[in-house]
Amino acid sequence: MNNIYLIGFMGTGKSVVGQELARQQKSKFIDLDVLIEKKEGRPIVDIFAEKGEPGFRKIESCTLKEVSAHSNTVVSCGGGIVLNEANIDIMRETGFMICLTAAVDVILERTRVYAHRPLLNVPSPKETIESLLKVRAPFYARADMTVDTSQKSIKEVVEAVRLFIAKNSG
Ligand code: S3P
Repeated sequence: MNNIYLIGFMGTGKSVVGQELARQQKSKFIDLDVLIEKKEGRPIVDIFAEKGEPGFRKIESCTLKEVSAHSNTVVSCGGGIVLNEANIDIMRETGFMICLTAAVDVILERTRVYAHRPLLNVPSPKETIESLLKVRAPFYARADMTVDTSQKSIKEVVEAVRLFIAKNSG
């Protein structure tokens, strides 16, 4: 309970913001993708290659369920976590859902140097980002709060999140 789930598209800063947020609050930090890779003993690209996206989504939902039993934990989630309604229910019941966003060009810039995201290992990642964002927009809109990280430092984003949590915690 009282967890903080960071959701949002790839490259919006969930992992770095989550680590800093947890550090400042002296709470635990879990990166769901890192935990999935640990549990499965292989990188996410390999899980996608072997089990497809549906196989990965099943593992992702199971892992979220396990993690939701923690308390006062900051959880950085993979960008597609919101695609399953049951995942949204779990997050809502056990904490705040904070969505990080960024402009398409910023996302492209932040993600282009890495090859560990199977969905963006495509010939035209910009088009893929735009079409995935369109599909996912209504899901990301379910968050309790949204912060655009395009022009903000990590510390500024963390401050905005902490302010929101302080105002909205019972
Ligand atoms: C995904 C985002 C990735 C990872 C997987 C799928 C997505 O996590 O879970 O590659 O569907 O948006 P990050 O958002 O942490 O990059």
